[in-house]
Amino acid sequence: MAADIVIRGGQVVSADAVFEADVAIEGGKIVAVGDAPGAKTTIDASGKYVIPGAIDSHVHFRTPGYEYKEDWQSGTGAAARGGVTTVLEMPNTRPPTGTLEALKMKQDIAARQAYVDYGIYGLLDEHNLDALEALIDAGVSGFKCFMGNTFGDLPAPSDGAMLEGFEILARRGMRCTVHAENASIMARRQARLEAAGRSDPLAHLASRPEVCAIEAVSRAVVFAEWTGGRLHIAHKSSKDALYVLRDAKRRGVDVTVETCPQYLLLSTRDHERLGNALRVNPPIREPGHQEPLWRALREGVVDMIATDHAPHLPEEKARASVWQCDCGFPGVETQMPLMLTEVNRGRMSISDYVRWACVNPAKAWGFFPNKGVIQPGADADLVVVDARREWTLDQSQLFSKSKISPWHGRRVQGAPVMTLVRGKVVMEDGRIVAEPGWGKPAKQKMPAPAPRNVDKTTAAITAVRETLRKVG
Ligand code: NCD
Ligand code: ZN
Repeated sequence: MAADIVIRGGQVVSADAVFEADVAIEGGKIVAVGDAPGAKTTIDASGKYVIPGAIDSHVHFRTPGYEYKEDWQSGTGAAARGGVTTVLEMPNTRPPTGTLEALKMKQDIAARQAYVDYGIYGLLDEHNLDALEALIDAGVSGFKCFMGNTFGDLPAPSDGAMLEGFEILARRGMRCTVHAENASIMARRQARLEAAGRSDPLAHLASRPEVCAIEAVSRAVVFAEWTGGRLHIAHKSSKDALYVLRDAKRRGVDVTVETCPQYLLLSTRDHERLGNALRVNPPIREPGHQEPLWRALREGVVDMIATDHAPHLPEEKARASVWQCDCGFPGVETQMPLMLTEVNRGRMSISDYVRWACVNPAKAWGFFPNKGVIQPGADADLVVVDARREWTLDQSQLFSKSKISPWHGRRVQGAPVMTLVRGKVVMEDGRIVAEPGWGKPAKQKMPAPAPRNVDKTTAAITAVRETLRKVG
């Protein structure tokens, strides 16, 4: 019997091995790896790698609310061009994704516009704890808690609300991502810096020293460990909090960690060239953080590479005062070529890349083994990679609406040349060739919940009061 598609002659990459094999696809699934049957369509991948599509646990697609910065079509198109086949989209939109209505609104838009598969984050904040269960039932893939201020100005919840939120999520086994920077320290420092007349690019860094991250990561770990909740640390930017995470993992806390190309490859040296446009949360730090982050990836303290794709218009990034510049920049489209360049430089292997960009995020978010791996039964989310192609990243060529990038002009070696999502070619040679709406919510199965200290949760202690009242 003929398969729908066979990708022939490529070097198939797993987290442990690289081997020549054909990959056969039927009904959107991988049905054979190795000797493939005949096919209706053949794709020649000789001389190229075939890798699982990258899974990006941190993107901001801005819609609803800031359509002019990005929408789901431009955002997921950028993802497909970047070899990313599943994205997890953040809740700091307008309205924020903290209510059932807001979630439904976003789900409708995504269903119509997406080219690649996706998960949607629900918001955990001070005022929506009553909505968390409904958001889970309606299909969010995880939650985001903004412990520190960032784009969207969503206030950090109090510790009491955050702990209670973690209790609820622990009972349901959902993972909560935290933007781990201490809000109060940063607000105070920014006010002091502004009063002192500082508005230069490095003032932003000065307002958010490493201690903000050490403190917030520690607090989030304490709450996750106490509640038995699952935690994910967004955009790890500094070496300093790594010891907290190393220890937490050794104790068995279910915490996963992402870093991003900008923290692995850029430093304050790049501020001279890029000025305020490099403003991002957490900030790009002094030299001396990159190497420890690489080591933490190799050691497994940092699990994965995400992008924090944070699109803004060029004029929103070019204001004279750093405090007036929007934070973040696009990245979902440039991550793979940047990291393939590091593979070519010998800094990591192609199998390392697949482990950090595909396998580990799939496992953390309950998509594995449906996604993140090339084996029979998995979704045919595949990327054909030309690891030799040398080219120059160009912000004007981005599919994202955000035509501004700190990577503009950077020479890279390696490119995703074809992206398939569930067996459909979505991107070929940089062109989007599928229809919007092909992308679907990624099916998720998290491990069984493992809540702890359940007799001391807010739900438990208030239930006791109820009982006492009835008995009395
Ligand atoms: C992000 C954004 O623009 O939404 N900005 C950023 O600087 N990273 C928000 C975030 O992830 O902190
Ligand atoms: Zn963040």
